[in-house]
Amino acid sequence: MKNASQPLLEEYQLGDLTLKNRVVMASLTRGRATNPDLLPTMLMSEYYAQRASTGLILSEGTWVNMQSIGFINVPGIYTQEQVEGWKIVTNAVHESGGLIFSQLGHIGAGAHPDLQNGELPVGPSAINIQSKSFTPEGFKDTVTPREMTVTEIHRTIQDYRQAAQNAKDAGFDGIEIHAIAGMLIPQFLSKATNHRTDEYGASIENRTRIVFEILDAVTEVWDSHRVAIKFSPVMLSNVGIVKPDEETIVLFKYILNKLENYNLAFVHIVGPSEDLSGTDVEELQKDYFTHFRNNYRGRILANLGFSKESANVILKKGDADLVSFGELFIANPDLVERFKYNLPLSESDPNTYYSGEDNGYITYPKSGYAES
Ligand SMILES: Cc1cc2nc3c(=O)[nH]c(=O)nc-3n(C[C@H](O)[C@H](O)[C@H](O)COP(=O)(O)O)c2cc1C
Repeated sequence: MKNASQPLLEEYQLGDLTLKNRVVMASLTRGRATNPDLLPTMLMSEYYAQRASTGLILSEGTWVNMQSIGFINVPGIYTQEQVEGWKIVTNAVHESGGLIFSQLGHIGAGAHPDLQNGELPVGPSAINIQSKSFTPEGFKDTVTPREMTVTEIHRTIQDYRQAAQNAKDAGFDGIEIHAIAGMLIPQFLSKATNHRTDEYGASIENRTRIVFEILDAVTEVWDSHRVAIKFSPVMLSNVGIVKPDEETIVLFKYILNKLENYNLAFVHIVGPSEDLSGTDVEELQKDYFTHFRNNYRGRILANLGFSKESANVILKKGDADLVSFGELFIANPDLVERFKYNLPLSESDPNTYYSGEDNGYITYPKSGYAES
C-alpha cells in the first residue's frame, strides 16, 4: 500500500520477495558467537527474531573460510555445524514473519596471526593495511600479510560459492557480499593495497575482477535477484590505507556499469560519515546518492546515518529504493513500529556492541506497541 507521508513503511517487491516495508536492518557484528567453532547461538536466534518486523534483515558479517577470520566471536558459514546453527536463526526469523539475507565476508589483510593459528593473514599484496585487528587480547595493529597466489584467489572465490550454498542450505532468503572498506574486496580495489601485476592488479578492470568473479560464482547457486553487494566508496576512518583516491569515482562507475548486467537484489551503498572536503572524492559530498542513482539503474539500498525523516526524503526523491539502519537497530528491536507510531528511540550502549552475551543484545525492550 502507498504511504505518501512515509514511503519507508510501504510494502516493497524485491524480485519474488515481498518486503513488509522498505526498512532494512544493516549488518551488525555483535561478537556473540563465543564458542571455539564460531557457531551461531540460540541467543542470536532470539536477537534476530526480535527484529523481524523490519522489511529485510542483513545478518552480521560471517566468514566464508578460516582464512577470512579477522574479529573474535564472529560466526562463520563454512562448516556444516555452522549451517545447522544458522538454520535455527533463519527459522526463528521466518516464524516471526521476517526475511533474512546472510552477509558473506573475508577480512583479508585485516586479520591477524593471533586469529590465524600463528599464520600470516593474506591480501592482494604483501602490504600492511595499517589498521587494527580485534584479537582475543584486544585490538592489535595489523601486520604485513602474505600475497595471495592466483590459485588461492580462485580457491577463495570457490569458498564464497560454497558459503553461498551453505546460506541457501541454512534457509536464508538471499545473500549480501560484504565489500565495505576493511574487507578483502576493497583491498583488491585499492591502489594502495593492490600492487599486483597479474590479472588481479594494476588496471581498474583487473583490480575489480574479483568482484565479478565472486558474483559469477555465487549466482551459480542463487538467482541473481537474491544476491546483493555492499560497498563503502568514501569511507575514511578505521580503514588504514584503504582510502578513496583519485580513481575511486571512475572505479565505482565502472563497477556499477558492469553490475547493471547482473540484475542483483540491490547494491547497498554506505554514504560519507565525514566531511569529504580536500579528499579525492570531494565532489561526492553534495548529492552523494544522486550521483550513484545517475550511474546505476538497478536497486539502491542507501545507508549511513539515516533517520526516519531523511530516509523518507531519499525514498520520495527516488535516489534510493530501500534504506538500511545499523546502530538504531541495536536498542530498538521494533524500529519499524517506532517509526510508524512516532515513538521515541532508545539509546544503545557501545560497551556491549561486541561483547556482553545477552546484556545489551537481547535485553532492549520493545516499545510495547505491538502490531496486531
Ligand atoms: C556494532 C556495529 C557492527 C557492524 N558490523 C558490520 C558488519 O558486520 N558488516 C557490515 O557490512 N557493516 C557493519 N557495520 C556497519 C553498519 O552495517 C552500517 O553500515 C553503519 O552502522 C552505518 O549505518 P547507521 O548509521 O544506520 O548505523 C557495523 C556497525 C556497527 C555499529
